[in-house]
Amino acid sequence: MTRSKHVSTFIVTLGLAAGLAACAPAGTTGDGGDGEAAECNVGISMPTRSLERWINDGEGLREKLEAKDCDVDLQYAEDRTDQQISQIQNQIAGGAQILVVAAIDGETLGPVLEEAKAQDVQVIAYDRLINGTEAVDYYATFDNYKVGQLQGEYLVDQLGLENGDGPYNLEPFAGSPDDNNAEFFFAGAWDVLLPYVEEGQLVVPSGNSPASNDEWTSIGILGWQSADAQSEMDNRLQSFYTGGERVDVVLSPNDSLALGIQASLDGAGYTPGTDWPLITGQDADVANVRAILADRQSMTVWKDTRELGTQVETMIDALVAGDEVEVNDTETYDNGIKVVPTYILDPVVVTKDEVQPTLVDSGFVTAGDVGL
Ligand code: GAL
Repeated sequence: MTRSKHVSTFIVTLGLAAGLAACAPAGTTGDGGDGEAAECNVGISMPTRSLERWINDGEGLREKLEAKDCDVDLQYAEDRTDQQISQIQNQIAGGAQILVVAAIDGETLGPVLEEAKAQDVQVIAYDRLINGTEAVDYYATFDNYKVGQLQGEYLVDQLGLENGDGPYNLEPFAGSPDDNNAEFFFAGAWDVLLPYVEEGQLVVPSGNSPASNDEWTSIGILGWQSADAQSEMDNRLQSFYTGGERVDVVLSPNDSLALGIQASLDGAGYTPGTDWPLITGQDADVANVRAILADRQSMTVWKDTRELGTQVETMIDALVAGDEVEVNDTETYDNGIKVVPTYILDPVVVTKDEVQPTLVDSGFVTAGDVGL
């Protein structure tokens, strides 16, 4: 991971009041408020180190909490659900009073989190909703539907679809079928794009065109693996683009898939800048920001994970102090058992012209990271 960590302290206006109630020193509990006060002893469970953003998420949050004398245990489960479950069990046994969990598979953590609940541990779902259990107290994420909407709207705008332009050859991809976010990403994009498919302005030569949002998993890539996206794109190009047809646009839900798709296009003889499809992405990973600057990717949807970390830090401050936790959405995220109180942050589109002002000037990446 090359990105130098600029963990800037964001003063979240809304959370300022709560955020001033700093985490109580390790081993003590906050007082006041009428909620259950907790120690500032936090277990952070991240899905994997193989995708850059999760390294930034985990390390960034740990730095913020340790700066407030919280005891923090940070674990990465390398995309193995059994490992994530045992790591969480160890964190509970180790005295964690608060768990911050980015689930590998949102359907599998109910039992272990119910163990936590039985010991009055508070649980914050981090960026990915945890389903099928009462034992999730809060959720902090970005507007996942809007991530997809921004991708779809970008493509409509770039292709002039509202002016009736087309037809263009589109290859859509979706995220990991075990990731609750992936469904929202796809729905946001497909709600924008499907009408143009039905109009014939967008054509999907490979036939991988879900008839509805519910069929998104048919084009999902398990574990968000770049290599699997590359081989899927290889297969589509070799099977359905044999008579000189070219791909004009690819809907990629995130940057790791976009990288694999770019490699496939290289292999098929496409040339960036002259004969290269529009490609979407998400996360502003360093490799993909470089790709955007090299005309290999058209845009990414940036989610400032520092902001997410600050929001979770504010939630933890409130839990430790026994104060009310600030949320701004109590309707969207139904996990099958309850609607989880959520704090939703806004994602941002970044194209080539915005790399400097949005990503470099904010300190999210350095100019050196991205070759500027
Ligand atoms: C999603 C996350 C995205 C994307 C993906 C791969 O849950 O919201 O940022 O990168 O996982 O980790």
